[in-house]
Amino acid sequence: MGIYILENVFLNTDYSLIARQIESLIDGEFDSIAVLSNVTAILNQSLDNLNWVGFYFLKDNQLVLGPFQGNVACYRIPLDKGVCGKAVTTNTTQRIDDVHAFPGHIACDSASESELVVPIEVNGHIIGVLDIDSPILARFSSEDQIGIELCVEKLVKHLVHCH
Ligand code: SME
Repeated sequence: MGIYILENVFLNTDYSLIARQIESLIDGEFDSIAVLSNVTAILNQSLDNLNWVGFYFLKDNQLVLGPFQGNVACYRIPLDKGVCGKAVTTNTTQRIDDVHAFPGHIACDSASESELVVPIEVNGHIIGVLDIDSPILARFSSEDQIGIELCVEKLVKHLVHCH
């Protein structure tokens, strides 16, 4: 997804720019909550048509809410539930065009229509997910998926040094 300017010109989201912005924004800060909070802000500012962007982290075999931008959300997600649980148990990005057609989808925000969930793997272990929701059906293309995965990759390189 991108933005239309003028009549027929389509601009794709520049994920390599967003990834570089993330790297420079988090450079030098090693408190994980501070870093993750600003990453949600930059993603929220950089991508159009989102209604929620944030993190869930694995604790006691559940996903627990982390830093986010958007409406209040579920505190805990069991691993056998939701798009987030599926991303963790399969260790694969979940790109869901229509969340209502996804068995077990958890509707934290009734405005959500499509969703992208990327697992976060640090030192060979999944520690959580980045979850992005949109009020538009099929908001996330395969290019968006690759771009967001790139952003997560840059974040993970930094998170290994955070506390
Ligand atoms: N929809 C997610 C739950 C988290 S909220 O979208 C913020 C899911 O089904 O796992």
